[in-house]
Amino acid sequence: MGGPLVFAHRGSSYDLPEHTLAAYLRALDEGADGLECDVRLTRDGHLVCVHDRRLDRTSNGRGRVSVRTLAELESLDFGSWHPRAVPADGDEVLDDSRTRLLTLERLLDAVRAAGRPVRLLIETKHPSRYGAHVERRLVELLHRYGLHRPAPDDPVQVTVMSFSPLAVRRIRTFAPALPTVLLLEVLPRWLRPGRLPFGTRVAGPGIALVRARPGLVPALRAAGNQVYVWTVNEPADLDLVLAAGVDGVITDRPALALARLGR
Ligand code: G3P
Ligand code: CA
Repeated sequence: MGGPLVFAHRGSSYDLPEHTLAAYLRALDEGADGLECDVRLTRDGHLVCVHDRRLDRTSNGRGRVSVRTLAELESLDFGSWHPRAVPADGDEVLDDSRTRLLTLERLLDAVRAAGRPVRLLIETKHPSRYGAHVERRLVELLHRYGLHRPAPDDPVQVTVMSFSPLAVRRIRTFAPALPTVLLLEVLPRWLRPGRLPFGTRVAGPGIALVRARPGLVPALRAAGNQVYVWTVNEPADLDLVLAAGVDGVITDRPALALARLGR
């Protein structure tokens, strides 16, 4: 296979409500190499796939995710806000896979059940009132699934990402063999493209940063790092990152990216 890996950002989240099981299953159907998800801890210690600190944008709930129990979050609708949540024709069934909260456990079960290689990028969201507990619980859960380190014969491969260098360091401490990505919205003054911190070998710059700093991707790659760029949704941006030779494209529209790659 030529070209970069294609990761579905929050699932096929252009077409279906982000972080729902339906959005992830659609991405797998479309042929995405991998899936991206954000995780947060509930008040009772469960990892749930929700991007925002607050519930307001993506559910019919209000307030912070971190002060709710799993049972409370399970009672909310996480899908109806999306313009394409309701099927346009009778062929598709409207079930709770488009509206139900997705726990990381359920996502791991779905990925395991896919029956084909899947790369899972799990982003721990910070700041969090639970601090290091987020990474601790994540590594505990990955241990239960045997995914805390890469196994060559396992079709499921997990990589943990964060904008927080401290979170990346914690993953390195709790699960030294687990690959990590340091996400970059801007270029920190301390960052040297040749020396990513804490054993990270993958940089995750945003598309705006890649546009603003045309030398960044070549410098990172020349130093032996891989580069995964987010969130690449527009054809012109796809062309830009393909020309730059990135290793991974994180997109809300995996089908579009795959078509552009001729796959
Ligand atoms: O894949 C990285 C990207 O998801 C980071 O930004 O805000 O979408 O989590 P955000
Ligand atoms: Ca993310």
